[in-house]
Amino acid sequence: MTALRHSLFHGLAGALLVVSATSAVMAADAKRGAYIYTAAGCQGCHTTPKDAKAKVLLAGGRALKTPFGTYFTPNITPDPETGIGKWSHADFKRALRDGKTPAGENYFPVFPYTAYTKMSDADIADLWAYLQSVPPVKRANLPHDTKFIFGWRMMMWPWRIMNFEPGAMKADVAKSVTWNRGAYLVEALSHCGECHTPRDPLGGLKGDMHLAGTVDGPDGDPVPNITPDKETGVGEWTEDDYESLFGLGMLPDGDFIGGEMTEVYENTAKLSDADRRAMTVYLMSLPAIHNRVSKAKP
Ligand code: HEC
Ligand code: HEC
Repeated sequence: MTALRHSLFHGLAGALLVVSATSAVMAADAKRGAYIYTAAGCQGCHTTPKDAKAKVLLAGGRALKTPFGTYFTPNITPDPETGIGKWSHADFKRALRDGKTPAGENYFPVFPYTAYTKMSDADIADLWAYLQSVPPVKRANLPHDTKFIFGWRMMMWPWRIMNFEPGAMKADVAKSVTWNRGAYLVEALSHCGECHTPRDPLGGLKGDMHLAGTVDGPDGDPVPNITPDKETGVGEWTEDDYESLFGLGMLPDGDFIGGEMTEVYENTAKLSDADRRAMTVYLMSLPAIHNRVSKAKP
């Protein structure tokens, strides 16, 4: 009897352990998802500055001005009517990986799916777990206010052929684990190139000018060259300089970073030291591109 009770107890304890281990794994997923969410900067675009102050997250409505018109970000809270509450994990994955709506239409590339397509399946799953955990907010989406064909989803297909390569990022086995982690953080998650790379007249990123800066960044503001070019980029920066920027928002001359980079630094400051360092290792390894971007507003 005691033996039976003993083994019963063990069986039960074992079952309990399995249960708590599974829920620990699930909880950890949403928690990892929250980290991905920070690294990928989802909140900055999907929350208006006013909402951010009131801690209303991801209800959309932020206006993004582009040369093609103004796009308003949608509500991505789990509200079933006005948000993405009825979406499946597959719908979500398709949005990030393929830039397609659940109905199969094209998203406009102001939603940086050209970077997010590089995310791993695991990170997309964790991010989905996290997004389902945020409070739902009922708020209807605003229509985009765009010029001519730039509001037509159908017209995005030629753009996609020229500018979009779907698929998760593959590790470069010739490089270190740290370098690969940095590449993933910079290219797949934090989408630095969306602001720091110049665009062609149709808004495609110029691949041969990757991260070389542009006079015509978001809202028409200049964005600096962050390749390691000594004269026109950040070739003189040390590892500590990057750490001060990513961790404290401080530039080598002691000034605080401004403009849209403020939001980026607020996210990088929340990443692990190892991840910030990995980004630095990757950035310092980039080819230097000579491209002078005037800092003053034209
Ligand atoms: C640079 C701004 C920006 C960032 C950063 C951004 N988004 Fe978006 N997102 C948009 C815009 C704009 C749209 C609408 C695109 C359209 O209408 O074609 C959108 C659309 C979406 C949609 C589709 C919603 C719907 O109702 O169809 C989802 C889901 C989404 N984003 C999730 C995310 C997630 C998750 C992240 C972070 C990994 C993220 N977004 C980061 C701007 C952004
Ligand atoms: C939303 C647009 C945007 C994104 C995304 C962005 N940046 Fe920036 N970045 C800027 C702007 C604008 C400035 C100039 C800010 C200023 O002058 O105070 C800047 C400045 C910088 C600087 C300082 C360069 C110098 O010469 O002073 C570095 C380094 C930098 N960004 C790196 C990054 C990295 C790395 C990422 C991705 C993790 C990133 N940025 C993502 C807009 C952006």
